[in-house]
Amino acid sequence: MATIGASAHSATNNLESFWMPFTANRQFKQQPRMFVSAKDMHYTTAEGKQVLDGTAGLWCCNAGHARPRVVEAVQRQVEELDYAPAFQMGHPKAFELASRLTALMPGDLDYAFFTNSGSESVDTALKIALAYQRAIGQGTRTRLIGRERGYHGVGFGGISVGGIVKNRMHFGTLLAGTDHISHTHDLEHNAYSRGQPAWGAHLADDLEKLVALHDASTIAAVIVEPVAGSTGVLIPPQGYLERLRKICDRHGILLIFDEVITGFGRLGAPFATDYFGVMPDMITCAKGLTSGVVPMGAVICRKGIYDAFMDAPENTIELFHGYTYSGHPLAAAAGVATLDTYQEEGLFERAAELSPYWEEALHALKGHPHVIDLRNLGLIGAIELEPIANKPTARAFDAFLRCYEEGVLIRTTGDIIALSPPLIVEKAQIDRIFDTLSKVLKQAH
Ligand SMILES: Cc1ncc(COP(=O)(O)O)c(C=O)c1O
Repeated sequence: MATIGASAHSATNNLESFWMPFTANRQFKQQPRMFVSAKDMHYTTAEGKQVLDGTAGLWCCNAGHARPRVVEAVQRQVEELDYAPAFQMGHPKAFELASRLTALMPGDLDYAFFTNSGSESVDTALKIALAYQRAIGQGTRTRLIGRERGYHGVGFGGISVGGIVKNRMHFGTLLAGTDHISHTHDLEHNAYSRGQPAWGAHLADDLEKLVALHDASTIAAVIVEPVAGSTGVLIPPQGYLERLRKICDRHGILLIFDEVITGFGRLGAPFATDYFGVMPDMITCAKGLTSGVVPMGAVICRKGIYDAFMDAPENTIELFHGYTYSGHPLAAAAGVATLDTYQEEGLFERAAELSPYWEEALHALKGHPHVIDLRNLGLIGAIELEPIANKPTARAFDAFLRCYEEGVLIRTTGDIIALSPPLIVEKAQIDRIFDTLSKVLKQAH
């Protein structure tokens, strides 16, 4: 075991061994930002400072932090049943959560397959899409279509259909047989839109181009985030998702909504499918499923997809896929208690009620130095900044550090600041987030 100063390997501050994800490791370790506890809307740092959570952790703590129902449920569960094998065995909490989750869904989105993260949900959904097409005699449909600037986690499936260059360029040839429709971000037409931009529904027709290029008989599925989150909050133009759905229907292509961020009330409705009134064939989710308390994800499938696998004799395994921790007891207990919390506190409705206030507060930043766009939907907001010449990301990251010093947690991607507070946020806390941003942006270089 490393002791302080014992070898070159052991860092003086013992932060060395943890290779942190999506982090500038060397910079962080020189000046660490450590959270040691959290409650409701606030984190506490190692120095004892309170930091207001403007990002629900990483878009996941939708119910806020350390909520009593969830904490108690996990504590109770770990004493009662810590683990049960996930294959050929079951435990009641996973079935309860699947029933509760699918009951939240519109239409015949009736079946939930559990995973442990958004990345696993995406790879699971892509695999189900391929296996489904094969099961219904459409085995030539092997192509998977994503969208430029899409983020679907970090598995090979997810980065292959994803459209964020840095997440793809270092990792070889990725999955064969993927392609991408164009993203919908267009500042010339849509800057400062409130809610859904009016321009851009026709961008969905890009899918028709790919159908013309590859032929529909080679395409299994299209996956998109209804609102692209991690790439910097790209709100779908009015009519865009509806059009995408129609094109998929016309050509027998499955439509997957990646709702890892938009699920569980983020838009002021249970899911984006409810908010936009567009039904996908599968939904991937994670994050808000347990409010971030225990890692868990799920793929929710329409009945026809599940049924297509149920033709073989009853003693055969229908889908050769799953994880040791699919439906883990602690995660399932956290999930049920989280859904209870959302319901009892009316948090999805609360998000809808707060969203006009949120929109006003965000758009009040118009005219601040370097701001080139503001966009919002539900309790999501983004501030796009003009990058510093030859120093992309520096301006937004500087704002992130200054906000942190001021006691407010924001998130940046490129030169875009993304905001997504827990749904328990109070109006005064929304004011605090935007007052801090206003101050920080006015001081920006
Ligand atoms: C839309 C979307 N899909 C997938 C993922 C990956 O989730 P995870 O980090 O839990 O693997 C994310 C994470 O931010 C996401 O936003």
